[in-house]
Amino acid sequence: MLAYRHAFHAGNHADVLKHLVLDQVLRYMTAKDKPFRYIDTHAGAGGYALKGAQAQKTAEYREGINRLWSRADLPPAVADYVHGVHRFNLPDAEPGQPAPELEKGMTPPLKLYPGSPSIARMHLRPGDSMRLFELHPADARTLAAHFGGKQVQVLHEDGFAGLKALLPPTPRRALVLIDPSYELVGDYGKVVACVRDAVQRFPEGVYMVWYPQVARVEAVQLPKRLMAVAPKGWLHVRMTVKQADAQGFGLAGSGLFIVNPPYTLHETLQGVMPWLVQTLAQFDGANYLIEEQPA
Ligand SMILES: C[S@@+](CC[C@H](N)C(=O)[O-])C[C@H]1O[C@@H](n2cnc3c(N)ncnc32)[C@H](O)[C@@H]1O
Repeated sequence: MLAYRHAFHAGNHADVLKHLVLDQVLRYMTAKDKPFRYIDTHAGAGGYALKGAQAQKTAEYREGINRLWSRADLPPAVADYVHGVHRFNLPDAEPGQPAPELEKGMTPPLKLYPGSPSIARMHLRPGDSMRLFELHPADARTLAAHFGGKQVQVLHEDGFAGLKALLPPTPRRALVLIDPSYELVGDYGKVVACVRDAVQRFPEGVYMVWYPQVARVEAVQLPKRLMAVAPKGWLHVRMTVKQADAQGFGLAGSGLFIVNPPYTLHETLQGVMPWLVQTLAQFDGANYLIEEQPA
């Protein structure tokens, strides 16, 4: 039985890093004329009410998206991402539908946070498609209530197993987000096996793996294990914003491992990460790392 619910963590520092990078990769995918498919192996509920009981319990968004919400000095890539979250908060925005445009200079109050399917939905063009896997019955129901239609399929199935059947996609362009909760320690091994299998089936795909920076050997080893199975052409970014508690528990930061990243991503992140880590820091030792192996 799955206990993890993303609503408790929506908009936190890890979502900021993940969705900022996702937004950049989606911009790259849609800069070309050719259609692509977005596959989310662990989609969550698609959107979250930040004033709801779950998000309010630990109010993690206060040290995440909230710190960026009204800033006038956002670096361009951060501004792109925050602009999307602003659009999601417009009164006439509907999860699962293309978000309305924002009037220049307008900042709506922060009430909602978009999950990865909503970030992707904002970039989807008429020829593109989406496949969203979600195993938790309640979150899968919420997702299916908002996302659907000809372009979008919600699958209440195991995303690790389901991905195999979707690769290679037609047409042969895809961005795959692999974003498990790591609630089960076996998820670390499944992520490595999933990436190994996926790059064999579809080597030219763009794969984004999110992982938590927690005091677990499996989490510490994950980037190195991914480097071992990925073909040449990967980027790893990690951001640490807080200290684990005295028992070593807590989410100190998070990382993303991207196979076949946009060639511009390294430079974009070099411009963004010093500002982002300083803005989201919760202790003096906050830091980041960017490493890559070019194709
Ligand atoms: C970290 S959350 C996803 C957040 C989402 N990708 C976002 O960025 O907004 C992980 C989700 O995976 C779901 N989940 C856990 N195991 C799964 C599996 N094997 N297949 C599909 N979904 C799963 C959980 O219920 C949870 O909603």
